Amino acid sequence: MIELQALSRHYLLGGEEVKALDQFSINIAAGDYISVMGPSGSGKSTLLNQLGLLDTPTSGSFRFDGVETTTLGEAERAKLRNNQIGFVFQAYHLIDRLTALENVELPLTLAGTDPSLRRERASELLIKLGLERFLHQRPQQLSGGQRQRIAIARAVITQPRLLLADEPTGNLDSHSGASVVELLEQLNNDGITLVVVTHDADLGARAERQLLMVDGQLSSESVLSKGETSDAPL
Ligand SMILES: Nc1ncnc2c1ncn2[C@@H]1O[C@H](COP(=O)(O)OP(=O)(O)OP(=O)(O)O)[C@@H](O)[C@H]1O
Ligand SMILES: [Mg+2]
Repeated sequence: MIELQALSRHYLLGGEEVKALDQFSINIAAGDYISVMGPSGSGKSTLLNQLGLLDTPTSGSFRFDGVETTTLGEAERAKLRNNQIGFVFQAYHLIDRLTALENVELPLTLAGTDPSLRRERASELLIKLGLERFLHQRPQQLSGGQRQRIAIARAVITQPRLLLADEPTGNLDSHSGASVVELLEQLNNDGITLVVVTHDADLGARAERQLLMVDGQLSSESVLSKGETSDAPL
């Protein structure tokens, strides 16, 4: 599904060039479950932003379903991003004045989906994900773990094939973190391709493919079989 070939993203910082991503190559297949670990500043978020087409590279190739994305115009990149990719961030980014249901509806609202249809799809998804009791609550009335699960529902309401999560449990205690991980893995089991950036070694160890980044490069990759991961306790 995804092929990165020698992808680089350099920043100029006070006259000095920072190689946030340095000749990074990887192939990602549909349905993969990948964790990305590494020290602060090693380029994990930079990689995720590239995978999410939120940023353009300095050099290199990124093919999505065989299509070279680095030469696409912004409108085509946005279309690919909106149709194929969902994002989850550490800080949830829910809208406080909207209910959980309305937050989950939002991507459909922006896509111009008919109001009754989007309400139906958002409620169906929240029910399927076991979140129906939060439908009419506002973010301030929810715990961090509950908010993050609503944010995950919002990320997948458009049925993306790739879900990118940047430290999704970074603000959570271990119990709430586990509920978030369970939901992400449920979505992966249903077929979504999952890439999770994390500082949490236990969470990182659950993924089938565990990438370690150092200085913008892939330092190592370890691979687990699917059976092994699902046996690990949360
Ligand atoms: N917009 C930017 N402008 C300049 N430099 C940047 C920018 N974004 C990232 N960098 C630099 O690129 C490098 C990689 O940053 P990145 O945010 O990808 O690291 P990270 O692995 O996600 O770190 P953390 O674990 O702290 O989130 C760092 O040296 C950072 O200072
Ligand atoms: Mg980061």
